[in-house]
Amino acid sequence: MGGVIQPLNEMTGLNVPDRKKILVASPAAGDMGDVIPVMDLYYDVDLTDDAFQAIGWAVERAYHMIVLDDHLSGSDGYVIAQKMQDQGSRSPILMLAEEESQAQAGRNEGLCRDYVQKPFDQYGFLEKFWHICDHAAEQEWDELPDTHSELLKSTREHYRWITDDLIRHGRMDGEAIDACTGQVVTAVEAGIAFEALKKLSGYHESTYAHSLHTAALMTVFGNQIGLSSDDVEVITAVGFLHDVGKIRVPRAILDKKEPLTAGEWERIREHPEWSGHYIRESENVNNLIAMPAERHHERLDGSGYPLALAGGQIDDLSLAVAIVDIFAALTEDKPYHTAMSLFDALEEMRPMRGHQLESGFFDRFEEVVPELY
Ligand SMILES: [Fe+2]
Ligand SMILES: [Fe+2]
Repeated sequence: MGGVIQPLNEMTGLNVPDRKKILVASPAAGDMGDVIPVMDLYYDVDLTDDAFQAIGWAVERAYHMIVLDDHLSGSDGYVIAQKMQDQGSRSPILMLAEEESQAQAGRNEGLCRDYVQKPFDQYGFLEKFWHICDHAAEQEWDELPDTHSELLKSTREHYRWITDDLIRHGRMDGEAIDACTGQVVTAVEAGIAFEALKKLSGYHESTYAHSLHTAALMTVFGNQIGLSSDDVEVITAVGFLHDVGKIRVPRAILDKKEPLTAGEWERIREHPEWSGHYIRESENVNNLIAMPAERHHERLDGSGYPLALAGGQIDDLSLAVAIVDIFAALTEDKPYHTAMSLFDALEEMRPMRGHQLESGFFDRFEEVVPELY
């Protein structure tokens, strides 16, 4: 589709994601506190407290998953789950369970994928919820050609190792990073990366999705500006790791829909330094990656953070990453905005050209990006 301009409403994938549906069938749906708004960030949530309606909807609408109360309008949740399955629903069920032994039996019989015991706390609920969502998303990846699903599954797994290591030990595994980087470069060069990335739209793990997206764009951009293959690997790894410092920022801040308070902004502004810190602390990780990770929010005119560097104080690689990072963020769904089309994103960025963003790089980026989606 190189160079062909499509009507915006026909653009798919990263640009106009299809929001997936979740069913919450519980008499206490109104009392589930902060859980529903969190789900609502990523999914269309249908709510009901009626067993009959729950079964009907489960059969009609291919839900990404179902949260089902074991006492729904006087009916037994496990009987309802069985009816849903008998009538053809294949959506995984997270049971809100009164009795642990009954829930375990239900899980063993395949009536629910997992359960949360009532009364549940938000954290415990969301952990199970995301676990099932991941599983369902990754099953979707099975439908892709092997080359595409391999890219997503393997980078997802590597990203999980990398962040688990960071949380537990404060450093990363250089081999996991190299493996990932190599895979992204190969996928971009084989022309399959952006096709695979479409399956990440709406994926809840937005830092992973953004990292992979940025990495793939960095490979393209690195090739476009004529970097050597070693430098393309470096710039791709920067794309993958530039935001790892966000694990220091509470999820509630990252996912917040409303404008951030000054204090919350402070936390966000710390993430580039943390990214750099973690890269430097890790053995077998190329130190060339650290500086652009630290500086990806610096801007030519000195309006960036954390150091408010300006002009020649900012190296080329950091200036290049800044452009790709902004473009990637604008074309992804975020809690605080829906994804822009690539044309709208470039339009939005154009006033920054020459002021905040380096003009030459911006022009090269603008040339290459419409070929990708
Ligand atoms: Fe960032
Ligand atoms: Fe970023």
